[in-house]
Amino acid sequence: MDRIAVRQSGPLEGTVPISGAKNSVLKLMAATALAPGEFLLHNVPDIADVTWMGELLTTMGMTVERPAPGDLRIVHDGTLVPEAPYELVERMRASIVVLGPLLARYGRARVALPGGDDFGPRPIDMHLRGLEELGASFEFAHGYIEARADQLTGARVLLEFPSVGATENVLLAAVLAKGTTVIDNAAREPEIADLASFLNRMGARVLGAGSSTIQVDGVEQLAPVEHTVIPDRVEAATFLAALGVAGGELLLAGARHDHMDMYAAKLGEMGMRISPDSEGIWAMSTRRLRAVDVSTLPYPGLATDYKPLFVAMLATADGVGIVTENLFAGRFRYVDELVRMGADIRTEGHHAVVRGRPLLSGAPVRAPDIRAGAALVVAALKAEGETIVGDAHHIARGYERFVEKLRAIGADVRAC
Ligand code: EPZ
Repeated sequence: MDRIAVRQSGPLEGTVPISGAKNSVLKLMAATALAPGEFLLHNVPDIADVTWMGELLTTMGMTVERPAPGDLRIVHDGTLVPEAPYELVERMRASIVVLGPLLARYGRARVALPGGDDFGPRPIDMHLRGLEELGASFEFAHGYIEARADQLTGARVLLEFPSVGATENVLLAAVLAKGTTVIDNAAREPEIADLASFLNRMGARVLGAGSSTIQVDGVEQLAPVEHTVIPDRVEAATFLAALGVAGGELLLAGARHDHMDMYAAKLGEMGMRISPDSEGIWAMSTRRLRAVDVSTLPYPGLATDYKPLFVAMLATADGVGIVTENLFAGRFRYVDELVRMGADIRTEGHHAVVRGRPLLSGAPVRAPDIRAGAALVVAALKAEGETIVGDAHHIARGYERFVEKLRAIGADVRAC
């Protein structure tokens, strides 16, 4: 069932349970390599990427199991094989974050070089430079990074760009390094703060996560812990976009407004009402969205992962909006699919000019990646006739029970 059929829908009504954050749990799973014993994670989404990271940890010698829905138990005795094979890394770039913890704990790692993907070239130079500052050395052979570090030593790491992955890899290495590491121009995403709180529970000494300067005082050893993953702000953003396009009223149970206030403010400018609620986020949309201009930036700016959602909303909004992508040059591949649905979108370099139409027309389209796939489903909620979104396996990589959750709030969608 690798397709999703969508018909015009709305208003949407009800409650959507927001799952744990994909972009946090994958890093927490990698962090378990730092200490032997039994870890228990709660609020873990049932998505393909978690399964794949579980497979990677299993090839290293860990036991990864789901004792109950939403829970993940990870156990190992500390004798891991510090290797991440090509077949697994090639499938999921996030696998690269095993590099830091393996280097810190085992003094060596053999990790396949992640290639580019839907968004164009995605180098890891900042990851490697940061780890080199701590004393690691790298050789490249047969598509693999051979990493070595007899002893990691704390240092000042100034990142050229607040890269999420580079910040996480350096942080994961620094917790067991000798002395103090300061990561300057660090990424500030909420997922970084969740990783830091997980590491501090394990006995690490991380200060300043969530700000652009993180200080890590290395410790001798860490211990396994229990932890609850933060909610997925991109999943929450996706359901808010569906609400904006189709109208109605929703409660996003478990969502954190404080993790996405810039996004909520932008949707407010478009005419939606959104506010924090004791159970999560409450939102309402009663009229056609107003067009706005959008630029993506590192957190707390508007996340690049929200951008396909904005283009989908602007496709049927009132007016013209200019969308500017500042993180990933090639992240406009889904535009042709929206144009196939009758949208009026012109792209020029890292800008897209979207002229809103009252209604799109249903068509067969393909999901090029996780977020763009979800955005095509969102856009199709305001398309006459039926839209078939193919390659829906991309969506399943990052969204738990997507079709089920949409159907529960009245959207006319089905897997087919
Ligand atoms: C994380 O990717 C997320 N993935 C992405 O979400 C998200 O889009 C991105 O952060 C930005 O918020 C996960 O957490 C698994 P970066 P990451 O390093 O860590 C350049 C999703 O759909 N760069 O912050 O790979 C890079 O090319 C995914 O959930 C270098 O040049 O992103 C990009 O232009 C998609 N050299 C920019 O920095 C480096 O060494 C930001 O990348 C590292 C990054």
